[in-house]
Amino acid sequence: MDVAEAIVARRSVRGFLDKEIEPALLKELAVRSARAATGGNIQPWHVDIVHGEAMARLKGIMAGKMERRESETPGYDIYPKEMTDLYRQRTFAIGEEMYGRLGIPREDKKARAIWFARNFQFFGAPAAYFCTVDRRMGPPQWADCGMYLQTLMLLAVEAGLATCPQECWAMYPETVEHFLGTPPERMLFCGVAIGHEDPAEPANRMRAERADATEWLAEVR
Ligand SMILES: Cc1cc2nc3c(=O)[nH]c(=O)nc-3n(C[C@H](O)[C@H](O)[C@H](O)COP(=O)(O)O)c2cc1C
Repeated sequence: MDVAEAIVARRSVRGFLDKEIEPALLKELAVRSARAATGGNIQPWHVDIVHGEAMARLKGIMAGKMERRESETPGYDIYPKEMTDLYRQRTFAIGEEMYGRLGIPREDKKARAIWFARNFQFFGAPAAYFCTVDRRMGPPQWADCGMYLQTLMLLAVEAGLATCPQECWAMYPETVEHFLGTPPERMLFCGVAIGHEDPAEPANRMRAERADATEWLAEVR
């Protein structure tokens, strides 16, 4: 598989098989991803791998939180407070397509909430990464973390694995940071579920379209 193929093949998978991944492979993918470009070679990412017994523990904690409908103050604004129609429409469209495939109508808020809560079971994935970053870092270093995570997801594709990046974890920063033992000077950016794709999951049949390049690409003459 070459890079171009991996880029096309990668997509967010929201249903995984109950099949463990070798811890050595999880570590290898994380280490190799550190070749990602990073401004000033700062390498701002910190990465925790969760699998096996620890994964079961975290899933248990989150199932309890969902059951009790507990919430926390998000660690950051997942979307900007003011999002113009251009961006709002794109995120609306992807949500509608997914819930459409799942057969969950817009009015069925309860069913949508139950589906959303599957995020906090990592959609059944057996393992995950969490990326944390020093609170003093700014947008450029957060972008570096994004490049790290994209590299990680592409390497996962090459290894025959599927991923789902998950910033929803920023809705439970206290729980996750406490669970990971994140020092106070760092904060959670994102989780990434990793595993073998479940081909029977309807949500996995979705291929998120991209905006036409004319919406964002310009050539300066
Ligand atoms: C930083 C980041 C965070 C994301 N967080 C979530 C999430 O919490 N839950 C989820 O289901 N998808 C999440 N996604 C997946 C996006 O919805 C997905 O990337 C987008 O719809 C494009 O689809 P694709 O990844 O299949 O190409 C996230 C993606 C990124 C890059």
